[in-house]
Amino acid sequence: MSKGKLIIFDTTMRDGEQSPGASMTKDEKLRIARALERMRVDVIEAGFPASSNGDFEAVQAIANVVKDSTVAGLCRANDRDIQRGIDALKGAKRWRVHTFIATSALHMEKKLRMGPEQVLEQAKLSVRYAKNACPDVEFSPEDGSRSDPDFLCRVLEAVIKEGATTINIPDTVGYAVPEQFGEMIRRLRERVPNSDKAVWSVHCHNDLGMAVANSLAAVRIGGARQIECTINGLGERAGNTSLEEVVMAVRTRKDFFDLETRIDTTQIVPTSRLVSQITGFVVQPNKAVVGANAFAHASGIHQDGVLKARETYEIMTAEDVGWTTNKIVLGKLSGRTAFKQRLKEIGIELESEDAYNKAFQRFKDLADKKAEIFDEDLQALVTQEAGTASDEHWRLVTMSQASGMGEKPHASIVVAESGNERKAEAQGDGPVDATFKAIESVAKSGAELLLYSVNAVTQGTESQGEVTVRLSKGGRIVNGVGADTDIIVASAKAYISALNKLASKMERVNPQHAL
Ligand code: KIV
Ligand code: ZN
Repeated sequence: MSKGKLIIFDTTMRDGEQSPGASMTKDEKLRIARALERMRVDVIEAGFPASSNGDFEAVQAIANVVKDSTVAGLCRANDRDIQRGIDALKGAKRWRVHTFIATSALHMEKKLRMGPEQVLEQAKLSVRYAKNACPDVEFSPEDGSRSDPDFLCRVLEAVIKEGATTINIPDTVGYAVPEQFGEMIRRLRERVPNSDKAVWSVHCHNDLGMAVANSLAAVRIGGARQIECTINGLGERAGNTSLEEVVMAVRTRKDFFDLETRIDTTQIVPTSRLVSQITGFVVQPNKAVVGANAFAHASGIHQDGVLKARETYEIMTAEDVGWTTNKIVLGKLSGRTAFKQRLKEIGIELESEDAYNKAFQRFKDLADKKAEIFDEDLQALVTQEAGTASDEHWRLVTMSQASGMGEKPHASIVVAESGNERKAEAQGDGPVDATFKAIESVAKSGAELLLYSVNAVTQGTESQGEVTVRLSKGGRIVNGVGADTDIIVASAKAYISALNKLASKMERVNPQHAL
């Protein structure tokens, strides 16, 4: 890669997936991988193959379809994990094994219960093992920003000798501050004798809200040439570096950074929406670049300025990052061919003709309720369809509810449990509460409701409502998403979707919490 290029490494499907409730199915990951490839992300970290058979299969499926991006998999620094990674990734056109081990005194002592010499040895052996199968090997010293620089230099020199081609310094707990972190990267590159044999990368968490600033300081001051990031900044705790923010910062301030990425920025907003719909993590309205208000000028003074000359208050255009005015794309009379064509134009490919038929039927149902169908509606519809497996444990058959001023809200539902229909009724403090109580009286999940949120998919009162429900049970947290023009129905769908996730055996091991 020439000096002026910045590599964008997306870890939405690995680190992003570690956020509570954000776990994704294989099909959901495939949709996100295709969107990331369309966006021209350089490296897609597809998962942690040793965590479960499900994640192994998802990484393998992504490795088999993605052609224009490198596909990476995370592996702890042991032969078993790395072999799982190799087996999952080896079908890819370009692939990378990413292995890591903690190097801070705190992590080595309290988490790994290993001494520094053992960690050094393990790091070398792991990179050697990976390098035997794969030319492209990335090594990360976990908790790098809190590690002793002298020890870090020894480890990094040794793993580069073993063949690591990318050295990624994580700020695992979001502790770094920009100037100091940038300087740290610069000094490491200066002190490690073979540093020029590897690309230097950073991976920052956002606990103090400085992940993007730290990543950019590492680039500008430290000479890093890869940034690890996620769509919408998704990630554990306060999240990771936001892909959209670093990409647009580097592009908008090219005068300062003098670097280029390969990213097709017009894919940013559609991909942000897709990740938000699939994971149920809603984007805050004032979020830079992808928030609903990012390009909305509410103040009259600003609006006047923007109308006279856009540059007075805008440093980038909404179109540059893929915002489109809600365009009516289809309606009640649109046929299957037009429907399929529009899906293709917005980058949605379904797995089979049967999936297209089911999605088309849902589209017809929606068009009966809503005269104008927008791209956002199609995205929500396909996400719903993909999240509704035919073998799901719970299915909403029908429902109704009644509420009014001074009346106690009441809901009746019919749900099918593994195909057997069950009826229930309940009263509640509001129509949503009554509906959830009715479902729960049948499901008896005992799960705790952690979050309930509603968002409009498009503008106007006839918009579909998109609901996220987060449930927790026995230490597991899941998000369910549902969309409908009736927000009570959307709420019931979201609750059922969360129950189905709880019923599935999809267990994930967090690579950083396990040994
Ligand atoms: O935050 C971190 O340290 C990580 C590493 C595994 C790269 O995610
Ligand atoms: Zn991380």
